[in-house]
Amino acid sequence: MNRRDFLKATSLAAMAPSFGLSAQTLSTSTQFRLEAAVIEQALTPYPEYKASSLWTYNGGLPGPELRVKQGELMQAELVNRLPEPTTIHWHGIRLSNGMDGVSMLTQPPVEPGARFQYVFAPPDAGTYWYHSHAKTWQQMARGLYGPLIVEGPDEPVVDHDLVCMIDDWRLNAEGQLDEASFGRLHDWAHGGRLGNWLTVNGESNPQRPVKPGSRVRLRLINAANARIFRLQLAAPALQYALDGYRTPLTSIQDIELAPAQRVDLIIDLTAEPFPLTEVSTGEPYPAFSLVPDAALGTATAAKVTLTDPTPESLPNLDTAKRLPLHMQGGAMGNLTEASLDGVMRPIRELAREYQKVWAFNGVVGNMKSRLADLRLGDTAIVEIWNDTRWPHAMHLHGFHFWVRDPETGTVSASRRDTHLMHAGERAELIFVADNPGLWLLHCHMLEHHAAGMGTVIQVS
Ligand code: C2O
Ligand code: CU
Repeated sequence: MNRRDFLKATSLAAMAPSFGLSAQTLSTSTQFRLEAAVIEQALTPYPEYKASSLWTYNGGLPGPELRVKQGELMQAELVNRLPEPTTIHWHGIRLSNGMDGVSMLTQPPVEPGARFQYVFAPPDAGTYWYHSHAKTWQQMARGLYGPLIVEGPDEPVVDHDLVCMIDDWRLNAEGQLDEASFGRLHDWAHGGRLGNWLTVNGESNPQRPVKPGSRVRLRLINAANARIFRLQLAAPALQYALDGYRTPLTSIQDIELAPAQRVDLIIDLTAEPFPLTEVSTGEPYPAFSLVPDAALGTATAAKVTLTDPTPESLPNLDTAKRLPLHMQGGAMGNLTEASLDGVMRPIRELAREYQKVWAFNGVVGNMKSRLADLRLGDTAIVEIWNDTRWPHAMHLHGFHFWVRDPETGTVSASRRDTHLMHAGERAELIFVADNPGLWLLHCHMLEHHAAGMGTVIQVS
């Protein structure tokens, strides 16, 4: 059976469950099946290197591209054929808490051989993705991720709408996934598990044929555990969206994309190839190319001038709840002790005995941590201070936030779900708590989260 056979698109209009969604949004629904299983696949094109055991959805790397219409009900059945429990998190999607897929917080993990049906209607158009949220630092590093594209009613007309999931892998000397280094404390206390091999959609430097002179929408997704990608484009492109959200159109050529972040670009090609180069290590690494090929026919999308989105204004902050969040820990950090399950312990003991090296407000995070208990409808300002020597990609489940710089008062042009904080940076994440449940706030450098960098915001 190939991966396409697993993807069954059926109309299940009759099965609309009562999710508090209005009747109009439930006009159609799409059923997907995502089977998580182990496959053998080479990560390099070199025949002398052996295949790796990868964990994937439907036998492909990345998992299948799920495309749905904004507001339309989708169902996705997870079938677990892995040797350990798993779940699926729908990164960036505002959905009901029970569908958020966080193992041990919003659902029990799905045991090997078991299934779980996810049902939700994505309310926002844009580029999203799905990934495992059980032992995420290891399951995602083995390949459990895929794109989720939500189409709105008025998308720009393009010749090609392409998704690029970028990942870096740590390969051993045999060119296989380096399993021996999973869980190495050094990575957890430093920049996370960084790889030495780059793939785009599971391939090494793929050359994607496109129509000459075409207009391309390129949706870049950072699926790496910890690497902040720095991508250079062959020529300036238009930035169209960040984390799914429309941004004012800006010309960009250098892109900084932190783990879990997405950027949508509109590129008007000539007849020349259009390479993307990754430069985060200081060495240029060819990542991906769009290659015009006349055999594909002629481009038809008009190069119309796109318009900026209507700016959104910040919510009223007069009665906003302020939630200070002091991030500490990591190598070269200033954390001397922190509380773990209610017991204060020195940092050395935390690191050696428990593999915990980070804390929020002096607390090593786990699923029992609570940063706040908000009332439904509250506006919240999470005042984060990255008091560490490391960058962190802070992700909030269930909401999209504005980012305000507390020093200058500057507010981000669009909302986001993942914000990269550089060492020493302070930022305010502002959101309206309009969705009840237990929502994770964590660093998407997955080893950092596993080593204590996470908390939960409760909304009731
Ligand atoms: Cu991409 Cu906790 O998630
Ligand atoms: Cu981090």
